[in-house]
Amino acid sequence: MEAFRGRTALITGASGGLGAEFARQLAAAGCNLVLVARSETSMQELARELEQAHSVRVMTIAMDLARPEAAGELHAQIRRDGPGIDVLINNAGFGLYGPFTDDDPVRLRNMLQLNMVTLSELTRLFLDQMKERGEGRIIQIGSVASYQPGPLYSAYAASKAYVLSLGEALNRELRGTGISCTVVCPGVTATGFLDNAGQQGRKSLYQKLFMMNSPEVVRAGLKASLRNRPSVVTGALNKLQVFFLRFVTRSFAARAGYEAMKM
Ligand SMILES: NC(=O)c1ccc[n+]([C@@H]2O[C@H](COP(=O)([O-])OP(=O)(O)OC[C@H]3O[C@@H](n4cnc5c(N)ncnc54)[C@H](OP(=O)(O)O)[C@@H]3O)[C@@H](O)[C@H]2O)c1
Repeated sequence: MEAFRGRTALITGASGGLGAEFARQLAAAGCNLVLVARSETSMQELARELEQAHSVRVMTIAMDLARPEAAGELHAQIRRDGPGIDVLINNAGFGLYGPFTDDDPVRLRNMLQLNMVTLSELTRLFLDQMKERGEGRIIQIGSVASYQPGPLYSAYAASKAYVLSLGEALNRELRGTGISCTVVCPGVTATGFLDNAGQQGRKSLYQKLFMMNSPEVVRAGLKASLRNRPSVVTGALNKLQVFFLRFVTRSFAARAGYEAMKM
């Protein structure tokens, strides 16, 4: 974790869940932070806590990253008022639980915009500075859902398949440039994710059995980034699930996915 000392990390979706945990672990490693999400108060409280505990600088920017202009505005604001970004963590994202035919079209568009388009644009924009400096680190948050069709989370899983494909390809393209790109693929993790996706406090048996905590997911993600791994699936059970997908057809995987997600 010494590689993060004195650097600056931009973390999207840092008002709670995995993003806040990335902030905690990086601050403890001496990394300065720029936190971005919509909930300003939660980020300001976290910023105060981390500045006092670890003597790092933490800037917060309240912004809705599901707006089409958001990536350009965020990049411009940081270039104007903020520090140079050494580490970009594209973590902000949400899911939509339920049959695709019931998805609210506006929430669907916002989810696809946030999970894929804003993530891609931020990556593209911040890569310019990283290339100029000849170093940088990008962490994209995918999911175990990146690896298979995800009935009842169909559009979400498709968006995370995009993140995995983009990130692994970038890892290869960036080889030799001093910039790394790693896709961190968590399975079910105890955050606000399931409730925000519309599961309203309910969990399937699969979700109860596979549930992990944010600290272990983030530790595995940062370790994989330090090793410049193209991607990492966090947790032994999740790794096993993704490994077995190699031996089944995609239609079988879709059937199993449906059974795993239905209540
Ligand atoms: N938890 C899981 O089971 C799980 C599994 C696999 C992958 N993931 C992925 O992990 C990432 C983090 O999710 P999480 O589990 O930490 O969920 P979470 O607790 O719901 O946190 C999501 C974060 O994204 C931010 N966000 C949501 N919409 C936003 C918007 N329009 N603009 C800016 N920020 C926005 C939220 O902040 P505001 O609401 O304040 O804006 C929050 O900080 C996501 O990409 C998710 O897909 C989660």
